[in-house]
Amino acid sequence: MDYKNILFEEKKGIAFVTINRPDKLNALNNNTLDELNECFLLIRDNENIKVVIITGTGEKAFIAGADISELNNITFETAESFASKGQSVFNLISNLGKPVIAAVNGYALGGGCELALACHLRIASDKAKFAQPEINIGTIPGYGGTQRLTRLINTGRAAEMILTGEMINAAEALKIGLVNKVFSAEELMIKSIELAEVISSKSSIAIGLALRAITGSGELSLQYGLNLEAELFALSSISGDFKEGTTAFLEKRKPIFKNK
Ligand code: COA
Repeated sequence: MDYKNILFEEKKGIAFVTINRPDKLNALNNNTLDELNECFLLIRDNENIKVVIITGTGEKAFIAGADISELNNITFETAESFASKGQSVFNLISNLGKPVIAAVNGYALGGGCELALACHLRIASDKAKFAQPEINIGTIPGYGGTQRLTRLINTGRAAEMILTGEMINAAEALKIGLVNKVFSAEELMIKSIELAEVISSKSSIAIGLALRAITGSGELSLQYGLNLEAELFALSSISGDFKEGTTAFLEKRKPIFKNK
C-alpha cells in the first residue's frame, strides 16, 4: 500500500498506521481522511491483522486537528458533509472489530483528540497534549468530540474542555480518564506494542465480540446492552476457542487459540 499522507506497516499481526504530515503537525486534510478510510478498510478485511496501533510522525504531534486551511473554505452547503466524512472514518475505526490503540506522541488537538477518542485504548507519552480547541476558531468539534468526549469522561469536565478550548497535559488526561496509561516518549511505542501483543495472544473471536459489546454500551440502554451482551456471549460459546479456553483451564495448561 502506497500512501502520500500516512505510513502503513504490518509486523507479526500488528498494523502500524502513522499520520505522516510532520510539516503540518500531522493535521488531517481531506486526502489524509481518504487514505485512512482506505487503509482501515484493508485492515478490517485482513485476517492476519489482530490489533492496530495508530500514531503520528515526529515527536511534536499526534495530530494537530483538522486542516484549518481547508476548514477556512467550507460553507454552510459543504460543512455538514465535511463533518460527516470525518465522523464516518472515525466510525470505521471505532467499529473495526479489532482493537485500535492510539499511541499519542504529542499534540492531539481537535480532530486528533477525536481520532484518539474513536480508538479503543489510548496510551500517551508524557509529552502529549490534548484539547478540543475548535471554540478558539469560532466553531465546535465536528468529528465526534461533543459525543465521544462526554461519553468517555465526566460530562462537566468535557463541557469545560469544549467550551474553553483548554489544553491539558498527559498527567491531567490520565487523571480524568481520557487516556489509559502514560509513559515516557522513549517507552511509548514499546509499551503500546506490549499491550498489542497481550491482546493478540487472546482469541480474536472473543476480542471482536467484546469490542461489539463495549461499543454497544455507549449507544444502548442498560437492558438492551445486557441483551446484546447475552447474545454475544452465546455467540462466543459456539467458537472452538471457547471450548479450548475452558478445557485448557481444567487441564491446567495454557490455551492454544486458533481464532475459530
Ligand atoms: N491545520 C493546518 N495546519 C496546521 C494545523 C492545523 N490544524 N496545526 C498546525 N499547522 C501547521 C502550521 O500552520 C504550521 O505550518 P507553516 O509552517 O506552513 O506555517 C505548522 O503546522 C507548524 O505549526 P506551528 O503553529 O508553527 O507550531 P507551534 O509549535 O508554534 O504551535 C500548535 C503548535 C499545535 C499549538 C499550533 O500549531 C496550533 O494551535 N495548531 C492548531 C490547533 C487547532 O486549533 N486544531 C483544531 C483545528 S479544528
